[in-house]
Amino acid sequence: QHLRPEELKVGGGQNAAQEAQLQYKGAQVLRVEAVTEFQKDVIKKMQDEQVLDTWLNPAAGRTHVDIMVPATALDQVKAELQNVSATFRVMIADVEAAIKDENPALSESELEELEGRKGHRMTFQNYHRVSDIHGYLDYLAQTFPDLVSVQTIGSSIEGRPLKMIKITGAKAGPKPAFYIDGGIHAREWISPASVSYIIQELVENREKYAFADSIDFYIVPVVNPDGYEYTHNGMRLWRKNRKDAQKGRCAGTDLNRNFGYKWGGAGSSRDPCQEIYAGSGPFSEPETQAIRNFVSSLGTRVRGYVTFHSYGQYILYPWGYDKKVPPDYTDLDRIGKMAAKKMREVGGASYTVGNSASLLYAASGGADDWAKGGPRVKYTYTIELRDRGRFGFLLPANYIVPTGKEAFAAIQTISEEIAATG
Ligand code: ARG
Ligand code: ZN
Repeated sequence: QHLRPEELKVGGGQNAAQEAQLQYKGAQVLRVEAVTEFQKDVIKKMQDEQVLDTWLNPAAGRTHVDIMVPATALDQVKAELQNVSATFRVMIADVEAAIKDENPALSESELEELEGRKGHRMTFQNYHRVSDIHGYLDYLAQTFPDLVSVQTIGSSIEGRPLKMIKITGAKAGPKPAFYIDGGIHAREWISPASVSYIIQELVENREKYAFADSIDFYIVPVVNPDGYEYTHNGMRLWRKNRKDAQKGRCAGTDLNRNFGYKWGGAGSSRDPCQEIYAGSGPFSEPETQAIRNFVSSLGTRVRGYVTFHSYGQYILYPWGYDKKVPPDYTDLDRIGKMAAKKMREVGGASYTVGNSASLLYAASGGADDWAKGGPRVKYTYTIELRDRGRFGFLLPANYIVPTGKEAFAAIQTISEEIAATG
């Protein structure tokens, strides 16, 4: 028999942070070789019952699944896996310990010293809170007023601003636009960090990049600020936004299932308790509404749309809702492969390029599918940053710089194509 979710819940009286500590203490991440459909179904069933949390699904040519299992369910899950002869190895022996190691956070006095010296609190040696990331955008707008402006394109469920930085191309006249975002999924900390790195390159090292003159960049580093803050002060491995927070583990909508193109299809769920809950309807969430409204307002100028996630090291192009490709997929594939080559040169990691549903799994309601299907943005990608599973979502902060360089190399490659083709 399976453990019911109720049995995994901890006793009353704890606050969210304490409760999370208990969930992650002794929890493990296992890499399971799930080859047969039967083995995959057993994992799927335990996922549906919230006995475990799937971190990484099997991709084409690969058979492993990464799952996080709380300490209280380890014996049960390992026995189930043995029952169906699925082998596994331990990737992370203690999730709580891995959380402690990933981000040796700066103290308030160190942050204040930094701010006094540089005018902002941002670094690429640590993962930062939303206020530090947004503070960096405001600093750039003040310091480079001719080039940079900051705009709030909406508010999250909990009322946090959704800040967008516009980095204007120096050339006169109308220019192609490139929309970039990060942090749709709260726990994927390397995404906002890498997007912030991209912003730094485009603004503070601008003279190195000729392409930056002929494109207007619109960048939202933290699409899901409520979820992101919750991963810093509540549950480190929260994924969704914070819709109906009082519902506990059943709170939140998966923002990358909430976009209104082929919404509600394969790979999304109607059950609010699931990690892939698509929301009550297409664009039911203020965060996805803000992106839709803003990108739509740019009209047909938008030639690039890249949304950063982790992990797995993939460059994915539409469609995600089904194993089909758009008519111009050969262009997407070609530029994607150029980007992967460049990423490897600058950062060292290998990225796999391909169609989202074929390479990973079908998942409807993604931002990329909407960008391609709605405003018909030519170069639309989802990029899954580092790593391939050694640390998973708990990628230590010393990987921010190499991963940021890779993310920037991808943007540079796509931008050069956009700049060249107009
Ligand atoms: N890991 C991402 C997710 O599950 C991949 C999204 C790819 N795009 C898509 N439309 N399925 O949200
Ligand atoms: Zn993601």
